[in-house]
Amino acid sequence: MTDDLLRYRGEFPILERTTYLISNSLGAMPRAVYDVLRAYADTWATRGVRAWEERWWTLALEVGNRIAALMNAPENATAIHQNVTTCQATVASCFDFSGKRNKVVYSDLNFPSVMYFWEGQRSRGARVHMVKTDDGVHVPTERLLAAIDEETLLVPISHVIFRSAFINDAKAIIERAHHVGACVVLDTFQSLGTVPVDVAELDPDFVCGGVLKWLCGGAGTAYLYVRPELGRKLRPAFTGWMAHEEPFAFEVGPTRYADLPFRFMNGTPNVPGMEAALPGLKIIAEVGVDRIREKSKRQTARLIELASQHGWRVNTPRSAEQRGGTVSIDMPMAREVCAELLKRDILVDYRPSAGVRFSPHFYNTDQELEVAMAAVEDILNSRTVAAK
Ligand SMILES: Cc1ncc(COP(=O)(O)O)c(C=O)c1O
Repeated sequence: MTDDLLRYRGEFPILERTTYLISNSLGAMPRAVYDVLRAYADTWATRGVRAWEERWWTLALEVGNRIAALMNAPENATAIHQNVTTCQATVASCFDFSGKRNKVVYSDLNFPSVMYFWEGQRSRGARVHMVKTDDGVHVPTERLLAAIDEETLLVPISHVIFRSAFINDAKAIIERAHHVGACVVLDTFQSLGTVPVDVAELDPDFVCGGVLKWLCGGAGTAYLYVRPELGRKLRPAFTGWMAHEEPFAFEVGPTRYADLPFRFMNGTPNVPGMEAALPGLKIIAEVGVDRIREKSKRQTARLIELASQHGWRVNTPRSAEQRGGTVSIDMPMAREVCAELLKRDILVDYRPSAGVRFSPHFYNTDQELEVAMAAVEDILNSRTVAAK
């Protein structure tokens, strides 16, 4: 079978040297990042402070719109931040937790940084209700839906779970939240770029994520989409001069909020981070998430098949419709196996309660999956692990 997506392999230097199965953590760097970062340095060196006006101040608009296009979101409603935790903080700062509607509902399979942030909001009056998983793989959807009630203000949930790659039923959660007057903050860090996200269809209130995993965009750029009708009514308390209607008027006193997306930003943006994000965003748009998803379903199925043949525990849903781009395999001595795989240039990671996470992306060959799993078998058969 010919795999058309493999023609992109040459764009990613690290694929020449490693078996790169870690795109759930850090996507491979596109070769063009060398050029855009050099161009950034040239601009800084030659245009100096004029670069703000000529490009940098509004770069977030371009980056936000490229990300919006990938998730079928309207233009000019996606702000740029440096990480997802900051996006959550911006959202939280729009709401008052002193009233009766102060409940925040999420699952214990959310990403820990996001949980730590919401736990921290208890001091502002937030009543955090955490729905527990039974098996560490699935979010109990019915229980989550039942917890979203008339006192619920916000539901910050991951679209795809980082530990198990379980795909949350975002549509059902958003419908339930809207039915009772709550807002959903959908974290698409582990979905966008590998699992289709359709904002027009799902109608979330907020969508956030970063570009460094499946979007191959590097660290320091995260996005925050805000539903325009809602966003125009909100006044983030976590704000700054980028959110001001006339930042260069340097007015004293309270802010006059700009329109979206700048309304949801705050201080000086991370310009090199945004420049570095562009090549990956362009490649993902060109490849197309639907084609990436088709390949991902096939390759993750193969990984599950290989793991099952060896009798290793798979902490990822078997059903392709419920599974994102990662397969978590908890083989014996998984932590040590992971360390040995890294030494052999097979790049994966280990997470407690998950096992070793294998995340093929559009640039991986089928052969690489076989190589990785054969290496696991070899490590377990050899004394390399046992001797440690
Ligand atoms: C689902 C999810 N949310 C958030 C994060 C990270 O959050 P932040 O950008 O604040 O570091 C990750 C992983 O790094 C993640 O997998």
